[in-house]
Amino acid sequence: MADSSITPPIKVLFVCLGNICRSPLAEGVFRNLVEEAGLDDQVTIASAGTGRWHVGEPPDPRMRETARRHGLSIDDQRAQQIVARDLERYDYVLAMDRSNYSTIRELDDRAHNASKVHLFRDFDPTPEDKNVPDPYYGSGTEGFERVYRIVERTSRNLLDHLIELHDLEAVEQGRG
Ligand code: 4NP
Repeated sequence: MADSSITPPIKVLFVCLGNICRSPLAEGVFRNLVEEAGLDDQVTIASAGTGRWHVGEPPDPRMRETARRHGLSIDDQRAQQIVARDLERYDYVLAMDRSNYSTIRELDDRAHNASKVHLFRDFDPTPEDKNVPDPYYGSGTEGFERVYRIVERTSRNLLDHLIELHDLEAVEQGRG
């Protein structure tokens, strides 16, 4: 269970494998929603990968292009690898798939921070699957768009959840 006694700023970390596709998109989409809600001083956002291959690199050009099609830039992000201390530092550690989840839990000595680690799609209102599909290999534009749709609706639901659970004062959003 999430801990409703956490005091703002609430620190959120999105985690995938490479930190160049799924979690950078989640960081960008979620940050945009948080800013729109006027909550940027109450929620901090970062992303990381369980793997180290891409550390220091910007997000994959295909994901940057996907973000751009939806009016977002994720170009300034740089990949980093999750470390055990991140489980102390962050309040919500959100794994993009079950494999990432297992790797994160292995970093968590004596399961001290187990309650902070969630599958991102636990917050998906329509989770046909609990994994955000990895678009890195052999996925065309439609595969990246599919990831965007999942990340967008899940991020909205995640923010609504945080607002309600932690009593955050969001600015009312006009839709459309
Ligand atoms: P991500 O995608 O985990 O969404 O960033 C991947 C990026 C790189 C690799 C795999 C997945 N890779 O094997 O290098």
